[in-house]
Amino acid sequence: MSARDRLRIAIQKSGRLSDASIDLLARCGLKFRRSRDKLFCFGESLPVDLLLVRDDDVPGMIAQGVCDLGIVGRNVLLEQALDSANAGDGAAFREVRALGFGHCRLALAVPEEFAYADAAQLGGLRIATSYPNLLADWLRRAGVQAAVVTLSGSVEIAPRLGTADCICDLVSSGATLAANQLREAAIILESEAVLAAGTLSPADARAELIDMLLRRIDGVIQVRVSKLVMWQSPRAALDAITRLLPQGQRPTVTSIEGQDNQVSVQAICNGAITWQHLEDMQRAGARQMLVLPVEQMLA
Ligand code: PRP
Ligand code: ZN
Repeated sequence: MSARDRLRIAIQKSGRLSDASIDLLARCGLKFRRSRDKLFCFGESLPVDLLLVRDDDVPGMIAQGVCDLGIVGRNVLLEQALDSANAGDGAAFREVRALGFGHCRLALAVPEEFAYADAAQLGGLRIATSYPNLLADWLRRAGVQAAVVTLSGSVEIAPRLGTADCICDLVSSGATLAANQLREAAIILESEAVLAAGTLSPADARAELIDMLLRRIDGVIQVRVSKLVMWQSPRAALDAITRLLPQGQRPTVTSIEGQDNQVSVQAICNGAITWQHLEDMQRAGARQMLVLPVEQMLA
């Protein structure tokens, strides 16, 4: 790996993950001289540059050392890892964080009139997919012999064209399947956007940048689900009230001047706070409840 003093992150140029990827990096304090049409964005706030590429190219760019990190679907990463494994190589990249956006699933889908009950029915059929390794792996584990038809795109049209009996493709909203008279039959992989890195960490200034970025990403992910909940209650009701809330850190409890048994409480909660939560808290003795979004967090 050649020494470099600027970090490079590969993200999807245009597609499902692009905006959310840029948004995540912006929340991590990275600012780029934006040129949407260019492949390279220079980082202005930190020595971290962006490469805008096809999502399928992200793992390879990390493997070649062209990039240090990448944001890509777990489906792409695992498909290419299996590809390396089949070629007898260890994958040169790995998932370091699940990023909590771009949720979808790699699923087996069958024509609406196909009465699917279990994988055994797939024996001898042709299944079209852009994920031949993940599909073959799933079929092998299910003990099914089927023909995997590898297509680079427009997989969902294969059954109508007669080139396959069913498909294995990404499903997010399900609109593409519905539009093609297909029905989801089995989930092969749950996927979301992940941060990928090389298996070897760089032995120069980039290592520190990667560590810092990971800490910031953890903070951003944490903040997304965190709420600061504040209330007042009798000290004796504290445990019962705290148990009603989604798990978080231990609350900070302050006594209220002149009111012996009353306390004022602050708690960071890792999860949504609903009206139901507030009403239950109120019944348990809480008053003056406030729920606030958390803007930034660093552990
Ligand atoms: C996927 C997949 C389907 C569509 C499903 O393609 O191949 O065509 O999304 O989404 P839906 O359930 O919301 O309709 P994607 O847009 O990710 O493009 P790519 O696979 O070519 O990168
Ligand atoms: Zn793609």
